[in-house]
Amino acid sequence: MCGIVGYTGPRAAYPIVLKGLKRLEYRGYDSSGVALLHNHHINVYKKKGKVAELEEATIGQDVQAHIGIGHTRWATHGEPSDRNAHPHQSQSGELAMIHNGIIENYTQIKKELESKGYHFKSDTDTEVLLNFIEDIKINNNCTLEEALRIALKRVVGAYCILLISKDEPDTIIAARKGSPLVIGIGKGEHFLASDASPIIEYTKEVVYVNDYEIAIVKPDELILKNLGNEKQTPFITKLDMELAAIEKGGYDHFMLKEIHEQPNTIHDCLRGRLLPQSLQIMMGGIENNMDAFINANRIMIVACGTSWHAGLVAEYLIEEFCRIPVEVEYASEFRYRNPVIHKGDVIIAISQSGETADTLVALESAKEKGAFIFGVVNAVGSSIARLSHAGAYTHSGPEIGVASTKAFTGQLAVLMMMALKIGYAKGTLPKDRYVQLMHDLESIPEKIKEILADTSNIERIAEKYKDAADFLFLGRGYNFPVALEGALKLKEISYIHAEGYPAAEMKHGPIALVDENLPVVFVATKDSYYEKIVSNVQEIKARKGKVIAVATVGDEVIPGMADDVMFVPDADEAIAPLLSVVPLQLLSYYVGLYKGLDVDKPRNLAKSVTVE
Ligand code: AGP
Repeated sequence: MCGIVGYTGPRAAYPIVLKGLKRLEYRGYDSSGVALLHNHHINVYKKKGKVAELEEATIGQDVQAHIGIGHTRWATHGEPSDRNAHPHQSQSGELAMIHNGIIENYTQIKKELESKGYHFKSDTDTEVLLNFIEDIKINNNCTLEEALRIALKRVVGAYCILLISKDEPDTIIAARKGSPLVIGIGKGEHFLASDASPIIEYTKEVVYVNDYEIAIVKPDELILKNLGNEKQTPFITKLDMELAAIEKGGYDHFMLKEIHEQPNTIHDCLRGRLLPQSLQIMMGGIENNMDAFINANRIMIVACGTSWHAGLVAEYLIEEFCRIPVEVEYASEFRYRNPVIHKGDVIIAISQSGETADTLVALESAKEKGAFIFGVVNAVGSSIARLSHAGAYTHSGPEIGVASTKAFTGQLAVLMMMALKIGYAKGTLPKDRYVQLMHDLESIPEKIKEILADTSNIERIAEKYKDAADFLFLGRGYNFPVALEGALKLKEISYIHAEGYPAAEMKHGPIALVDENLPVVFVATKDSYYEKIVSNVQEIKARKGKVIAVATVGDEVIPGMADDVMFVPDADEAIAPLLSVVPLQLLSYYVGLYKGLDVDKPRNLAKSVTVE
């Protein structure tokens, strides 16, 4: 959950590293720091707070260097503070290191080192690993690379580390297991980072470092080795994103920009795949593994957070159109519940970042048990994408805002195409319905444009309810997961306590919460549950609850009952989640904005949760 950046080459390292940290700040932002190596001397500057505070604190300091490493932190071991911020220096001061991940057996190693007289300046697992490496280097009288290899064979946990030494003036030694690392290849220079966003403006040629690999990086040399000290051939990938994709593009916040990008990102996701004219859905990952899906006794969907909500929508889609039983699993529970997995079981893994540790480790154990892993991922080249047997990218582009918006609708679009393709191939989805749903899906980008054309009503509603202490979000059928997603977005962005429920579940307890101070958001678009949801609205109104409804354009009943309404164009109930979630994304954005909160970097959160 931290951001890591490194540079070695002819340019001044500090400005490159600092700019890179700002690009990665969405990964973690409770403290940051840089280590700069110049004339066999390492200058370390680190500060609690955002990268801007580090920049402020470094004014007037010696930042000369052609090699540097930088870190923006999301605390796991040791509270956010200057002394726990990275980089850490070894006891001798010879080495400096940054780390993204968790060393689970660090207390044991720390005890061993303390018994040898080591003292620690911070509470972090990282400083323990660093001194462990130094201790091995001294006692084995070996190279830094060899010491690192020996140390990594002892540690348990996840890591991406960058290491520099006073004695190696132009070399960064890096290693990864579980936490992401990308290396950008320039002319006589190399860039290292947790993802491509700090690298894209310098080069499009990158190498995604694999688990258990060590990289020895010099300005004009990149060597990859495994922990067995065997050289690995770097696989160079060309980045297919533009710098503009990771800039705000005139919007005040990445979240608002990404909400407004959805007509284009969904269009990009459908392009070349959804071909209603030829009755085809082109998805190679499905096509090449159709038997696995058609013959599946069940499908398990594994994910976290917003991606888990997309999985819930997929449960309704796959069970209705493919008649295959689906179980939707919280990855963190699935991992340790020792689930019953049979060889050939199909697991759909959903992840925007492709680096979420809970999901990654759950998939690793399921894969060992013989499951077929199909990844629905946004980040190209990410760990979950590479671990999956097959998959489909959502093509939503880089998502910078911590609250997932365009990636969620990208996931829904991919999952809808998967369900339609498998259902039609399996013969459980009749042709006319298949065609009708394809056309409905194709019309979504234009319909979202209609919602985004005028958001003043949603802004008014956000202003009206921004001071509420609690919110309830209710929906039925396909709209139930949308209600959950609406509640999560509001929690993340506004820090208001919000819960999502199946609307009928209210009378089994939660309705006790209802009074004139409780805003209740109904996702009540026209669908097969409509009559039922109308009576649920009446139940809330009867108890003076304030009803905010997401309703279908042209509906007069729900608007007649609700206190406030956010309209969306009509669509088939199976496709409607792509529309009904948009007003909820905007509602949470504007409530957070009107409360003066940092909507792109909400407190206590990070974009990709790379530790368990
Ligand atoms: C959603 O807004 C949150 N950022 C979070 O719940 C997120 O969906 C979750 O951490 C899963 O991330 P992933 O899709 O990158 O795996």
